[in-house]
Amino acid sequence: MKPQSTIIVPSTLVLLLSFQLIAAAADTHESFLQCLSLHSENSTSISKVIYTHYNSSYSSVLELTLQNLRFSTPATPKPLVIITPIHVSHIQAAIKCSQKYGMQIRVRSGGHDYEGLSFRTSYNSPFVIIDMINLSSISIDVENKTAWVQVGATLGQLYYRIAEKSPNLAFPAGSCPSVGTGGHISGGGWGILLRKYGLAADNIIDAHMIDVQGRFLDRKSMGEDLFWAIRGGGGASFGVIVAWKIKLVDVPSTVTVFTVRRPWDQIATKLVHRWQHVAHKLPEDLFIMVFLRSLSSGTEGNRTMEAIFQSLFLGGEAAPLMQRDPDCGGKKTVMKRAGFNQS
Ligand SMILES: Cc1cc2nc3c(=O)[nH]c(=O)nc-3n(C[C@H](O)[C@H](O)[C@H](O)COP(=O)(O)OP(=O)(O)OC[C@H]3O[C@@H](n4cnc5c(N)ncnc54)[C@H](O)[C@@H]3O)c2cc1C
Ligand SMILES: *[C@@H]1O[C@H](CO)[C@@H](O)[C@H](O)[C@H]1NC(C)=O
Ligand SMILES: *[C@@H]1O[C@H](CO)[C@@H](O)[C@H](O)[C@H]1NC(C)=O
Ligand SMILES: *[C@@H]1O[C@H](CO)[C@@H](O)[C@H](O)[C@H]1NC(C)=O
Ligand SMILES: *[C@@H]1O[C@H](CO)[C@@H](O)[C@H](O)[C@H]1NC(C)=O
Ligand SMILES: *[C@@H]1O[C@H](CO)[C@@H](O)[C@H](O)[C@H]1NC(C)=O
Repeated sequence: MKPQSTIIVPSTLVLLLSFQLIAAAADTHESFLQCLSLHSENSTSISKVIYTHYNSSYSSVLELTLQNLRFSTPATPKPLVIITPIHVSHIQAAIKCSQKYGMQIRVRSGGHDYEGLSFRTSYNSPFVIIDMINLSSISIDVENKTAWVQVGATLGQLYYRIAEKSPNLAFPAGSCPSVGTGGHISGGGWGILLRKYGLAADNIIDAHMIDVQGRFLDRKSMGEDLFWAIRGGGGASFGVIVAWKIKLVDVPSTVTVFTVRRPWDQIATKLVHRWQHVAHKLPEDLFIMVFLRSLSSGTEGNRTMEAIFQSLFLGGEAAPLMQRDPDCGGKKTVMKRAGFNQS
């Protein structure tokens, strides 16, 4: 009898304790949801953008833009609530209520974060995802060569809308169309227009964001220091970015692109070596980048290396440029010396 009761007592305690914890969590959860409705300017519409485990679409909303499948496992910590704001007041409500109920916030735009920082935490504290997917409007001002883009818009959507309005305007940013403008621009954002126009973050002229106190700020009201910080420092360190005003850049209506692949033998080694010397001396209109990757070769599954040169020339004919060597007063050919003529 005695040994048995000493076993029963502790386990009952554990059970009671965990019931209390679950009840407390459920209470917090309920209060948090009520808080959201109260703090939102429009409590009728906020309920339509709140997803908890009880909503059947919770998982599909969570998975929709999640890119790194390493963080799509049952063991990955899941948010208590996902909010997909369609109005700025929804973001303000989420920030205020998260503070009140001790919830962490994760902000997601395109979901491409390599570490999954936009949709998970690495420790066991309850958290909320503010998923910007439904704030994705884009308005292009061709006359002034500017555009307002909300962070839920992807790079592909942005490029498409610009191209619809003009064949001579573009925005210098990354090449993967599903990357979100929220995370991309706030972290810098590089792409094939880099040489001539710099990073995406270099081409931002205004921004709308919500800060930790729930204030709506633009460039003027946030001040130049904060405006500088959100263009490269990672937006989530400072608040929730809602939209960017971007500067559009001039491009010719005809451009030239090419890709050259070389196996990792003497030629590729020479080419990469040569590329390091000339790539930055070429005219700004010619961009050449190189990917070095490993691949399996032969039947024994041995691995070898390959160099892939990808290029964009802002013009119709790149060949004459490729024949000049910026190191030799334009006399010898750039790539011939290094083996491109063997293609
Ligand atoms: C397939 C792939 C291709 C890529 N190609 C390129 C490329 O060509 N050039 C390049 O420069 N980079 C590239 N990247 C990197 C990419 O730019 C970054 O991962 C970027 O942060 C993704 O932005 P996101 O909005 O899609 O990601 P998210 O995962 O939504 O966010 C990334 C980070 O920014 C924060 N954040 C997101 N939205 C906001 C917001 N509205 N306010 C405040 N903080 C926010 C998140 O909390 C998180 O910390 C690529 C990534 C992938 C996976
Ligand atoms: C509140 O939401 C309802 C339903 O979505 C909408 O009809 C109404 O215009 C909104 N009001 C404000 C002030 O945003
Ligand atoms: C999720 O479920 C709650 C409770 O049933 C409901 O009020 C809310 O509108 C649902 N969310 C969505 C996005 O449908
Ligand atoms: C939000 O975006 C998703 C995915 O694009 C879409 O299916 C849904 O209808 C949108 N919801 C609202 C309220 O706009
Ligand atoms: C261009 O900018 C000027 C000055 O800010 C503004 O008055 C004009 O309306 C803008 N053009 C368009 C098409 O919006
Ligand atoms: C593959 O690697 C093994 C071990 O290094 C080597 O003995 C063999 O010759 C290689 N095969 C080829 C086709 O390079």
